[in-house]
Amino acid sequence: MSQKIQSIRGMNDLLPQDADVWQHLQAIAAEVFAAYGYRELRVPVVERTDLFKRAVGEVTDVVEKEMYTFEDRGGESLSLRPELTAGIVRAGIEHGLLYNQQQRVWSSGPVFRYERPQAGRYRQFHQLDVEAFGLPGPDVDIEIIALAARLWQRLGVSGFRLQINSLGTPESRLRYRAALTDYLRSHEAALDDDSQRRLASNPLRVLDSKVPATREIVTHAPSLLDHLDAESAEHFIALRRGLDLLGIGYQVNPRLVRGLDYYTRTVFEWTTDQLGAQDAVCAGGRYDGLVAHLGGASTPGIGFAIGMERLIALMNLQQAPVPAHAPQIYFCRFGLQAETAAVALAEQLRDEWPALRLVLNAGGGKLGAQLKRADASGARFALILGDDEAAQRTVQVKSLRGEGEPVSIGWPDLLQHLAPRLGLSATVPIDITE
Ligand code: HAM
Repeated sequence: MSQKIQSIRGMNDLLPQDADVWQHLQAIAAEVFAAYGYRELRVPVVERTDLFKRAVGEVTDVVEKEMYTFEDRGGESLSLRPELTAGIVRAGIEHGLLYNQQQRVWSSGPVFRYERPQAGRYRQFHQLDVEAFGLPGPDVDIEIIALAARLWQRLGVSGFRLQINSLGTPESRLRYRAALTDYLRSHEAALDDDSQRRLASNPLRVLDSKVPATREIVTHAPSLLDHLDAESAEHFIALRRGLDLLGIGYQVNPRLVRGLDYYTRTVFEWTTDQLGAQDAVCAGGRYDGLVAHLGGASTPGIGFAIGMERLIALMNLQQAPVPAHAPQIYFCRFGLQAETAAVALAEQLRDEWPALRLVLNAGGGKLGAQLKRADASGARFALILGDDEAAQRTVQVKSLRGEGEPVSIGWPDLLQHLAPRLGLSATVPIDITE
């Protein structure tokens, strides 16, 4: 036997038994996005490395340490996307979707980061991403936060903590950066190694260090919110007022900074205390400079991304209701005539109810074996057709979940019989003429 090939660490398979919850999340998310006027936009999994360097920032962990970068056969440096925003902005510029327009878009799919895998942290994971362009005011900040809140509500998950902050404009941030650097320099020796390194390259990232000694120093650091320019401060107040009005609870966290460089003004994170260390389920913010930075005409933008694996872990933990996609009917058939008649019957049921989930037994087997398969499939009803039934043009309907005794039904009446039991309506009687 040849040696087995294993999957790559941190890259997961989605098995059929776990697919229901994914499909449910995708369906509800698409509904909620559409309800707010957001339309889908898809971008490639691979882009030029420079796009991410420029968008996300050269001195971020994502670009410095976590990108899957390779040369293609033509010698060009390409990367697997570590997030979706950069590609969406690139596509928006390239297709003229952003200039002087308002756009509401969403996207989803796999993204890749070479991080140390652990529960809730993977190397291939999936994001649901929402972005709005051409809208500078806090009204849209409020809109996309409300959209996320509605998604939690629709999915039946709760217990989130929403944290918000404002990073101001690049100019006000520069002033803050200077004040913060002065403060941190005066405590440099007590900072952890990583933070000492960041002090020179990206001092704001020191604010979200997880090292206890550094956190203690950061507690007394100057606050971003005290260094905001007047317009950003006003924007932030309007955002808070809007969230208050909608009854969306939040905490202002002046130390909330994000791991990607493109943010300006509003940043936010939805976290949970139910998932351990990887507690951020959804995060995002405003990026008013990014479109211009990537070569487009200056256009404000704001968005967020949900980590789908984390949201699904939460849905499972909280036993959020998920519609099951087990078959409704498993069709057992044995005997020569019955085998063919069953195909025709099954096709008629499918004609009548295109969404009916019906598994037609394949590969033969005795009645007992077929009923075992029927039960394992999760179906509610088994239809049983042997040659005797076929000769009499009847079929047995047997509940697999204790919903009454088996009954023998004539073919013409089968739809009418099943309709109320499956919560469907039937229009025509079955008519098979052989
Ligand atoms: P981000 O905070 O880097 O933001 O990622 C968003 C979400 O992706 C996180 O809150 C988390 O749920 C999930 N996530 C991140 N890394 C991993 C991982 N290794 N394994 C599993 N889940 C993970 C962005 O990506 C921005 N593009 C969001 C955005 C959109 N900002 C504006 N528009």
